[in-house]
Amino acid sequence: MKSFWFILLCGVAHLLLSSVAAVDTLGHNQTLTDGQTRVSSGNIFTLGFFSPGNSTYRYVGIWYANVPVQTVIWVANNQNPMNDSSGVLKIAEDGNLVIVNSTGLVWSSGVSIAGNDTSVQMLDSGNLVLSSSSNSTGYLWQSFDHIGNTFLAGMKQGLNLKTGQQWYIQSWKSLNDPSPGDYTDKLENPEFPQLIIRKGDVKQYRIGPWNGIDFIYGGIPLTTGKILYPTMYSDENEVYIVLKTSSQSIIARTFLNETGVLQDYYWNQQMGQWIDVLTMQQDVCKRYNQCGNNGVCDSTASTLCRCLKGFTPKVPQKWQLQDWSDGCVRQTVMNCEKEYGFLKLTNEVNLPDLLQYSVNSSMNLQECQAICLSNCSCSAFSNLQMIGEGSGCALWFGDLVDMRADTDDGVVLYLKLLPSEIDSGGGSKKKRRLVIAVTTSVVLAILVLVPLGWYSRRKARRDLRGGKCFGESMFTTQELGHEEDLELPMYDLFTIKAITANFANSKKIGEGGFGPVYKAELATGQEIAIKRLSKNSRQGLNEFKNEATLIAKLQHRNLVRLLGCCIQDEERILIYEYLPNGSLNSFIFDATHGSVLDWKKRRDIILGIARGLLYLHRDSRLRLIHRDLKASNVLLDNELNPKISDFGMARTFQGEPVEDKTRRVVGTYGYMSPEYAIDGLFSIKSDVFSFGVLLLEIVSGKRNRGFCHPEHDLSLLGHVNDCSLAWNLLNEGKELELVDPMIGEEYPKSEVSRCIQVGLLCVQRHPKDRPTMPAALSMLDTEDILLPHPKEPGFYTERSLHDFSSASDAPMASNEMSVTWIEPR
Ligand SMILES: *[C@@H]1O[C@H](CO)[C@@H](O)[C@H](O)[C@H]1NC(C)=O
Ligand SMILES: *[C@@H]1O[C@H](CO)[C@@H](O)[C@H](O)[C@H]1NC(C)=O
Ligand SMILES: *[C@@H]1O[C@H](CO)[C@@H](O)[C@H](O)[C@H]1NC(C)=O
Ligand SMILES: *[C@@H]1O[C@H](CO)[C@@H](O)[C@H](O)[C@H]1NC(C)=O
Ligand SMILES: *[C@@H]1O[C@H](CO)[C@@H](O)[C@H](O)[C@H]1NC(C)=O
Ligand SMILES: *[C@@H]1O[C@H](CO)[C@@H](O)[C@H](O)[C@H]1NC(C)=O
Ligand SMILES: *[C@@H]1O[C@H](CO)[C@@H](O)[C@H](O)[C@H]1NC(C)=O
Ligand SMILES: *[C@@H]1O[C@H](CO)[C@@H](O)[C@H](O)[C@H]1NC(C)=O
Ligand SMILES: *[C@@H]1O[C@H](CO)[C@@H](O)[C@H](O)[C@H]1NC(C)=O
Repeated sequence: MKSFWFILLCGVAHLLLSSVAAVDTLGHNQTLTDGQTRVSSGNIFTLGFFSPGNSTYRYVGIWYANVPVQTVIWVANNQNPMNDSSGVLKIAEDGNLVIVNSTGLVWSSGVSIAGNDTSVQMLDSGNLVLSSSSNSTGYLWQSFDHIGNTFLAGMKQGLNLKTGQQWYIQSWKSLNDPSPGDYTDKLENPEFPQLIIRKGDVKQYRIGPWNGIDFIYGGIPLTTGKILYPTMYSDENEVYIVLKTSSQSIIARTFLNETGVLQDYYWNQQMGQWIDVLTMQQDVCKRYNQCGNNGVCDSTASTLCRCLKGFTPKVPQKWQLQDWSDGCVRQTVMNCEKEYGFLKLTNEVNLPDLLQYSVNSSMNLQECQAICLSNCSCSAFSNLQMIGEGSGCALWFGDLVDMRADTDDGVVLYLKLLPSEIDSGGGSKKKRRLVIAVTTSVVLAILVLVPLGWYSRRKARRDLRGGKCFGESMFTTQELGHEEDLELPMYDLFTIKAITANFANSKKIGEGGFGPVYKAELATGQEIAIKRLSKNSRQGLNEFKNEATLIAKLQHRNLVRLLGCCIQDEERILIYEYLPNGSLNSFIFDATHGSVLDWKKRRDIILGIARGLLYLHRDSRLRLIHRDLKASNVLLDNELNPKISDFGMARTFQGEPVEDKTRRVVGTYGYMSPEYAIDGLFSIKSDVFSFGVLLLEIVSGKRNRGFCHPEHDLSLLGHVNDCSLAWNLLNEGKELELVDPMIGEEYPKSEVSRCIQVGLLCVQRHPKDRPTMPAALSMLDTEDILLPHPKEPGFYTERSLHDFSSASDAPMASNEMSVTWIEPR
């Protein structure tokens, strides 16, 4: 009896153990029925039965185990669905993986060499593999060889040159029907590989060719933040790309949807949704041959299509009506008797489609050029590879097809033209160089001398773009009176969307005057703050450029650092260092935080702000007036060091600081000096005024606007309902009544008193009475300087206070202002 129990227990244990161990495999004698699953060992992918969309049909497929939105990446019987749940997945007698239903075979892996010792395993890569225990030389069959609409890291896309086998992506018919749809994405032209998306046989979109390092995307910025990136493999047998993810833990896929749009998605765990980080065909210029033969598509130009230099619209009337389909023809018909030269197009267009072409990887550019000159139908040539200084030869014959403006991919194309056509039109902005005869050393505009791989290549390219936030055509720093390149990295919108989970509310850390601010993390782990300027904010392109240009040039420990920017589509985005403690606002005006700031800390903050402002006014290369200094624009770092931010309204001044008059009065009520609020006059002394207000707020812990002292019923700066002035307190020698109780009783009275006095000196009514920042700073810093007695400060009427207190943070244009300046009595 005992032995019976023992055997039973052993049996149960064995069963349990074997079922645990084999949870990702299906052995010879096992079956998987509808409702059962196999899960890869790392719990990444699930194999099982499912019904797509609204369909009631049953399919066997693979989906992500950890993604709650069922996302199927592969389907076995996509062409032969079952209409009930009688299906069974198992290893057949012949060793193949099969699906059978009550009447027979539904689907089979269909390999002929299978044996009777096969098993199938669900791998963490998403690959379902059939292997034989007696044959360890690879898989007998694998799902990765049968790509559906989803391309995963580790899959191959390409072709076997010997067998003709092709690995390609094919869309589903619809969300409800995983059978092969109209769209395919195939790797073509193996000698110079391109990816082509077709609807049926018709080309829709082209990525490439592969330049040895990367695909030429033609204007799509791929960034360091990219999640999936391709590597090309080729030998005499096979040519294919494999995607890699930037990190093992990233759940990402490339997906060809039912309308032929190729997208890169990654799963954002926090958001609980797929984020589209790269949609390939988002731009109208991505449509195949949008501008017709020999036309160039440029969605940033005023007219979408233009002809290549030396070409003219084939049917000018239609071209004028923006019907580009006929494309362009040569101004002068190619005549083999004539002598031709080449126009070098650097970073102007992508490489044309490979229709009539030839390539030779061992020719150099001179040989390439010689061939193109000698063959009458040759119309252009370029290097085949961009590695190093470039190598190989690619020749195009006849029309040049599917070209778009491309300033990002480092493409150099030599266009065959008559010398007269090359010379004409010298007014062109871009530098073009004439290459007529074969020169001994053809120097190519190659971005990096030593190929360091994809990443560094991308990075180098980005850096080389000048780190320019604004292309030359988009931006002239008018305020500065001269053009200057910004040493400011450009971030790509897709990256930003990815790291902010598409500007998710959960990532939002604040709302500035011009739009929300998000916190995010770069791939490097660095925390950043992303300021997304709202489309309807009053900060237009000018202010945006202004802010970015200005801050990019500012370097001071009391100024917030700008790390980059992004101008794409309608978006205007600034990327700053992230300061974990947020704004001063939340410390000084908040009962729970206020106690963090003792007097010493407050004094340090005041001095820090003063130094930052001094730097702006005097020491920076630019010399500028901030114009919107306030508590919410002062951020605090880890150690509560203040950093001035928000330069959207800043103005530079040249040479001697002068009063300037501005059409638009912008700023924040309560901090605005009277001469600025009323007459639109601003100078460095308007900043000094704002600094004074801020100083008094830091000391008192009270907002200037609307604040009345509980006992004396007085506002910090102005008469409101017979409130007395802080100034009155000073006159009565009771200025210490202003001090924030949060500071406690223990503080150096004379120092605080001195500080208040400096604050009041800064808010005097007449600009000329106010000290400059250097003077204010030394007054704060040095005990020995004797302070003048401040004159009465500038202030507003009761009515204006009332009117503006609600809209106080909004920028105001002068015509909306009704502030009245009362002469102090
Ligand atoms: C499968 O079943 C056969 C007979 O039904 C048996 O002889 C064989 O040992 C089984 N194999 C496994 C791996 O369980
Ligand atoms: C699913 O069915 C509903 C109602 O019949 C329909 O409105 C919806 O479009 C269907 N969804 C898909 C993806 O076909
Ligand atoms: C499934 O298909 C079979 C054969 O086509 C048919 O006899 C059966 O009625 C179908 N079952 C359902 C539930 O539609
Ligand atoms: C079983 O599958 C076959 C092939 O797909 C199909 O013709 C048949 O109707 C199915 N039978 C049932 C009962 O679903
Ligand atoms: C498997 O096939 C081999 C050779 O064909 C045969 O010797 C062996 O008996 C088979 N095993 C089973 C379990 O069918
Ligand atoms: C073992 O598997 C490999 C790859 O599937 C196949 O090419 C080979 O013919 C198999 N060997 C035997 C002995 O079945
Ligand atoms: C495919 O993707 C594009 C771009 O995101 C989208 O506009 C389109 O609606 C999608 N098609 C389907 C069928 O979901
Ligand atoms: C490529 O160019 C080299 C050098 O000019 C030449 O020897 C070779 O035949 C060419 N190959 C092809 C396929 O044309
Ligand atoms: C020019 O090149 C094309 C394409 O390679 C070829 O078919 C044609 O024969 C060449 N013509 C001459 C004159 O060499």
